[in-house]
Amino acid sequence: MKTTDNYKRPVISLRISITNRCNVKCFYCHHDGIVAQDYEMNPEEIYRVAKIARKIGVDKIRLSGGEPLIREDVVDIVRRLSHLKFRDISITTNGTLLGKYAKALVDAGLNRVNVSFDTLNPETYKFITKRDYMELAKDGIKKAVEAGLNPVKVNMVVMKGINHTEIWEMFQFCRKNGVVLQLIELLKTENCEEAEFLEEYHYNMNPLEEELRKISSNVKKRAFMQDRKKYFIDGGEIEVVRPMDNTQFCKNCTRLRITPEGKIKPCLLRNDNLVDLIEPMRCGKSDKELEEAFLEAINNRKPYYTDKC
Ligand code: GTP
Ligand code: 5AD
Repeated sequence: MKTTDNYKRPVISLRISITNRCNVKCFYCHHDGIVAQDYEMNPEEIYRVAKIARKIGVDKIRLSGGEPLIREDVVDIVRRLSHLKFRDISITTNGTLLGKYAKALVDAGLNRVNVSFDTLNPETYKFITKRDYMELAKDGIKKAVEAGLNPVKVNMVVMKGINHTEIWEMFQFCRKNGVVLQLIELLKTENCEEAEFLEEYHYNMNPLEEELRKISSNVKKRAFMQDRKKYFIDGGEIEVVRPMDNTQFCKNCTRLRITPEGKIKPCLLRNDNLVDLIEPMRCGKSDKELEEAFLEAINNRKPYYTDKC
């Protein structure tokens, strides 16, 4: 069974933020659109949320944070989720703990990872994250490939004046290591004075995409994934993620999110239409009632960027 929202978008992907704690401090972080609070769902609650989601048609699940690998029970969480037979279980991580966990995560049923890794320059890494973990993260990426996670993707948020000149070097690093490069457009965040932040660091990817088009042997679109484009070059792969003002991105969005404190969040960029799950779960509501909460959240889904003014 698939559940479709009022804009004919099937909801097939769920992203569960399992913690808002993080061991790096990226200055641009949008915190997955979450207002920080010290809450975490326990593994049984995460499993139950995923089980209901599975029932209403979600077939892809992603764990994110904060930094999800900071939770010592992350392997247990993945193992439980693997019993629900999702088509795809993935994690978005900063990679610093992948060396420690990659193998165990694969054994628990994890299919793939995306690693936030914006630069190969240690000083730039430190400037962005306030930490000295570049080599650790780089090693984590290699360990993820060795452990058999597939694909491994590097998420590079492209920022003007910070790392935009490193795109080709990063592509070569990814290509050599059998990793997909995701170039991500910088999004506004609640932490920063929006206009100034974007004016200073937002990088226009139009000329770059023009160049990618010219040199690619093939270009594909991910219809059920926000219509993102993938470019195939010299045996390597670059995916471009450009949500800003992109009506096509929203029209093809198939994702729901769960915040660490157990609220269903229909859109990364909005906080005014969340539906609580944790309170109903903790006061003994039935699976049917939790399913209703999911349907309410799906009913709340609305494209953030639309063609109409
Ligand atoms: P896969 O392609 O399935 O690996 O998922 P993903 O690339 O969306 O996952 P990831 O956690 O790596 O997110 C990459 C980037 O996509 C994030 O940095 C966000 O900026 C952007 N993004 C992901 N989901 C959304 C969304 O629902 N809305 C918007 N506006 N941006 C999103
Ligand atoms: N703009 C774009 N991407 C961002 N991410 C975090 N903050 C932002 C932002 N302001 C990315 C991280 C991570 C993913 C979950 O979101 O790099 O890979």
